[in-house]
Amino acid sequence: MSDAGRWTSGRRRLVLVAAAGMLLAACGDEELPQNTFDPQGPVSRQLDDLIKPVGIIAGVVFVLVMTLVIYSAVRFRRRSEDEAPVQVHGNAKAELAWTVAPAVVLAVVGVFTVGTVFEINEVPAGPDVLEVTVTGHQWWWEYEYPGAGVTTANEMHIPVGRKVAVKLLSDDVVHSFWPPKLAGKVDVIPNRVNNMVIEAEKPGIYYGQCAEFCGLSHANMKLRVVAQSQADFDAWLASNARPARLPDAELDPEAAAGAALFRARGCASCHTVKGYAAGTVGPDLTHLQQRETFAGSMFDLDEKNLRRWLRDPPAEKPGSLMPDLDLSEDDISSLIAYLDTLE
Ligand code: CUA
Repeated sequence: MSDAGRWTSGRRRLVLVAAAGMLLAACGDEELPQNTFDPQGPVSRQLDDLIKPVGIIAGVVFVLVMTLVIYSAVRFRRRSEDEAPVQVHGNAKAELAWTVAPAVVLAVVGVFTVGTVFEINEVPAGPDVLEVTVTGHQWWWEYEYPGAGVTTANEMHIPVGRKVAVKLLSDDVVHSFWPPKLAGKVDVIPNRVNNMVIEAEKPGIYYGQCAEFCGLSHANMKLRVVAQSQADFDAWLASNARPARLPDAELDPEAAAGAALFRARGCASCHTVKGYAAGTVGPDLTHLQQRETFAGSMFDLDEKNLRRWLRDPPAEKPGSLMPDLDLSEDDISSLIAYLDTLE
């Protein structure tokens, strides 16, 4: 290898070590919203209780094997050109030991892993269990609360301390639902129902995202789980079950104009606004203002972001199925005035 080549490979190694360091540091930081090692619910705690001991066992095995490899390489290295190693024909005891020891380790790890897999895959039932149907779309999440007549997007509300039986469906391709502080990840597969259980111990906002490559905006398919007290959750559910009220043309002419545009420009054929529009392609917007984000939780819900979004959605979110509608700035203002009424 030339000097230049050696320098490049040395530098590459340095970069790799630095990157690995940052990656590992990221896994342990309590402040990180998607820290897998910071369980906040019984399901994620169960996974954590499995992965930590298994990680420790794997670490011990790794250190042991690497130490033996390095020790043997140094201790038994060839010291001169004409030196030959002692020739042996196997060692029954050693071979038995390094076959049985890993088998025992794997059996122990396997027993706990399989046990956990069965436990977390059990679909809970009963009056205390909340059912939510989650549908993955390119590139946003839809949440339905069966029996409550509530459909929302990207931000899923759940009551604290109650098991939530999540039914996972896909409208198009394979996605994966992953709120790391509350549960593991479960694939969301077209023409198949998958189940997962989530539960939060404390109120708060738990972040997550799609964890299976699903096209151009896979990285923009984020999600939030909003855990609330039972009373707050009940209030949220009741308020989201209401239909939208249509803006009054005399009291709020701009919003009323926006509502008309919402139909005239085709928004209504993709979006539902309960009582006014029944599209099923895009997110239900009936209570948009109760959400903090939009477009797959990519943007904070505010006027500036909505304006940018409505000018040209695919420019803001690559591949967005919502097309550029070529809206004038006045049309955008009216539409935003209407969206503001969707509380
Ligand atoms: Cu949906 Cu990645």
